[in-house]
Amino acid sequence: MLDRTMERRALLFIWVFSLSWARGQVSYSIPEEMAKGSLVGNVAQDLGLDIQRLKSGKARIYTGDSGGYMVLDKERGVLLVGERIDREALCGRTTPCALDFQIILENPMEFYTVTVEVTDINDNAPAFKNGEVKFDVGELAQIGAKFVLEKAVDDDVGLNGLQSYSLRPSDNFVLNSYRVGGSRNVEMVLRKPLDREKQDRLSLVLTAVDGGEPRLSGTIQIRIAVLDANDNAPVCAQAEYKANVEEDAVKGSVLTTVSATDADQGSHGHVLYSISGIAEGAAGLFKVNEDNGLFQLVGKLDYERIKHYEIDVQAADPGGNSDVCKVIIEVLDTNDNPPIINIMSQLRSIAEDVKPGTVLTMMNIQDPDSDENGKVLCVLDENVPFDMKSTSNNFFTLVTDSNLDRERASEYNISITCCDEGVPSLSSSVTLTLHISDVNDNAPVFERSSYEAYIVENNTPGLSIFTVKATDADWNQNARVSYILEDSSVNGVPVSSYVSVSADSGVIHAVRSFDYEHIKDFHLCVKAQDGGSPPLSSNVTVKIMIQDQNDNAPQVLYPVQTSSSLVAEMVPRSADVGYLVTKVVAVDVDSGQNAWLSYKLQKATDRALFEVGLQNGEIRTIRQVTDKDAVKQRLTVVVEDNGQPSRSATVNVNVAVADSFPEVLSEFTDFTHDKEYNDNLTFYLVLALAVVSFLFITCLVVIISVKIYRWRQSRILYHSSLPVIPYYPPRYSDTLGSGTLQHVYNYEVCRTTDSRKSDCKFGRAGSQNVLIMDPSCTGTMQRIQNEKNILDEPDSPVEVSVHKNVHFSFLFAFLQNHGQLPTS
Ligand SMILES: *[C@@H]1O[C@H](CO)[C@@H](O)[C@H](O)[C@H]1NC(C)=O
Ligand SMILES: *[C@@H]1O[C@H](CO)[C@@H](O)[C@H](O)[C@H]1NC(C)=O
Repeated sequence: MLDRTMERRALLFIWVFSLSWARGQVSYSIPEEMAKGSLVGNVAQDLGLDIQRLKSGKARIYTGDSGGYMVLDKERGVLLVGERIDREALCGRTTPCALDFQIILENPMEFYTVTVEVTDINDNAPAFKNGEVKFDVGELAQIGAKFVLEKAVDDDVGLNGLQSYSLRPSDNFVLNSYRVGGSRNVEMVLRKPLDREKQDRLSLVLTAVDGGEPRLSGTIQIRIAVLDANDNAPVCAQAEYKANVEEDAVKGSVLTTVSATDADQGSHGHVLYSISGIAEGAAGLFKVNEDNGLFQLVGKLDYERIKHYEIDVQAADPGGNSDVCKVIIEVLDTNDNPPIINIMSQLRSIAEDVKPGTVLTMMNIQDPDSDENGKVLCVLDENVPFDMKSTSNNFFTLVTDSNLDRERASEYNISITCCDEGVPSLSSSVTLTLHISDVNDNAPVFERSSYEAYIVENNTPGLSIFTVKATDADWNQNARVSYILEDSSVNGVPVSSYVSVSADSGVIHAVRSFDYEHIKDFHLCVKAQDGGSPPLSSNVTVKIMIQDQNDNAPQVLYPVQTSSSLVAEMVPRSADVGYLVTKVVAVDVDSGQNAWLSYKLQKATDRALFEVGLQNGEIRTIRQVTDKDAVKQRLTVVVEDNGQPSRSATVNVNVAVADSFPEVLSEFTDFTHDKEYNDNLTFYLVLALAVVSFLFITCLVVIISVKIYRWRQSRILYHSSLPVIPYYPPRYSDTLGSGTLQHVYNYEVCRTTDSRKSDCKFGRAGSQNVLIMDPSCTGTMQRIQNEKNILDEPDSPVEVSVHKNVHFSFLFAFLQNHGQLPTS
């Protein structure tokens, strides 16, 4: 550097010399910034002065006010740099820059003007006032937008001054500089849009360059902050959000979280969520949190109504930019519906005789839940005669599955329970009431299979004897029992003439007064019939038993009582003690206790010679007969039955104590009747015989006539089936073996030759109806049992003998009554 400066100095020197020579003045040119003491020019030579003159003239430099840049070396006659010269400080931007001063001499006083031109060197670089500059640029700034930049300053002039600018990097901006007046303005222009979201800060460098050699430059940092604009919409993280939720989820359950992002900054990027589109029926069910996108259930879901929801959630920033996120909600079924039982048709009442399989009720059962939750199973109570049948999907019928019986159960409460198969299972039930209506299927039933009833004889007619009762298990009219006396006959008489039965109450009334001695018992049949249609009935046999009353006194059969007491028993005087004198025979037509007879001696004529057997009525001696005993003894025997009160009869027994019959007769003269009575008796006897014989012959004639007549009639009415009505003599009407004693007593008398043997039999009450005598005894009595034969077969030998017997019995009784028949 210094070498180059010296070179230039030499050149300048030559130019200055020539100049000063011509004008009496001298000029020099030096570059600025020369070191102190550097040679500017040889003034003495150039001014034509010798060194002596300078010394004697006391040459000096006059600069006025402008410093001591130059010094004069008088010894050598040269001009030197007195101090460093800065052109910029000396002249600023003025060019050329010259220093004018005078060299003054004395002796003589003279002066010379010297001009020193100071030339520029490139010692200043372009410079910016600030090290950096900042801009805030909105990202939406338009292309072409201009930003004025700071100008750089270079103190140098000419080529050394500021020449140009450059800007780096130049992606978004270009530099534009233009001259305005004397200066150059510089600006940068946006040529490509900014995007804060890509690059929010730019850093550029502006460089100013001068034209010196070497070139100098200055820089400034340009810092650009890209300001955000709301130029981005929110974007959903997912296009669809799916969630499954049980229909019984509680309110407030979080289903999903919707999320959207906005690339913008700050408030521009604040996303707000809202439900924008919702299907019909879903209003109020869901909520989205405005700030955080929490998607919640706020209503009540029902799978059976809506199974699927699609909801649009809008995500928007404050500038109104938005995106829509779809939320898809699938509702899952829970078993929240019990089965529903709908009765479609129902019978409330049914007859008990319907066949099994009769349909009672039709119903439809539904469960809106799905799958297992909607499968329904129905059950009935156990032990009911019904069954559930499924006809088709969800349709059920209730049918009878066995025979019904109203008498067992007249009403059923059929409870049907239907459960679904969900877990836990839900159920519902319904109770149907079914009435069973009655059918007349039960006959009345008597309380007992047979009855026995008792009535005491001699009752008042109309007396109620007994009540039969039958019950019928059916209902109402079908159970209304009427009692009917069945037709039958008792001893040939309709039973209705004995008793009547009250239809309503079943009370059996006596129609007549009963006589035990006439009828002891009889059967009747009562029918119980219900009011159904057709009616059912059953019957029962009632045995009515007539109870005896002691209404008959004993009757003494033997000894036969006569008014004249003619009959006497003989007792030989030699009779031993216990000799059987006779036997009192009595009967009582009553029965039992009422017929239990006892015999007592009421009064004896003498001191006790006889006694009577209490039970058997046998009169016996109790001691030896003595002479003192009267021949004629009269005993009174009282026969008493055992009824309450008891009835009695008395009989007188004459006893003759004698060894021979004449003795007896003499004693018994007073016993005999007078003559007239005997004559009368004989007369009556003969008359009776005659009448009887006449009657007998008449009967024979009549019977033969009847027979002949019938024979002829049968010839005439050959084909006639005229019934032959048998004739029953009223007295001989058969009691059908019922054992009832008729008005005639039946007894059997045996005559023994020896009255001491007590072998007589007595007719038992009710055994026969006609007098009978044992053939071995005196009479040959036959039972009259074939009265019909008497009429139908007149030739029969039986008939004759019977009639004879009748006559004989009549005679026998007659004689006995009149004491004509000897007793021994
Ligand atoms: C059926 O139910 C009704 C009403 O609850 C009741 O009165 C009746 O006694 C019930 N019948 C049967 C047979 O349980
Ligand atoms: C009574 O009932 C029985 C069967 O129970 C029957 O054989 C009889 O004929 C019935 N009698 C009358 C008179 O109805």
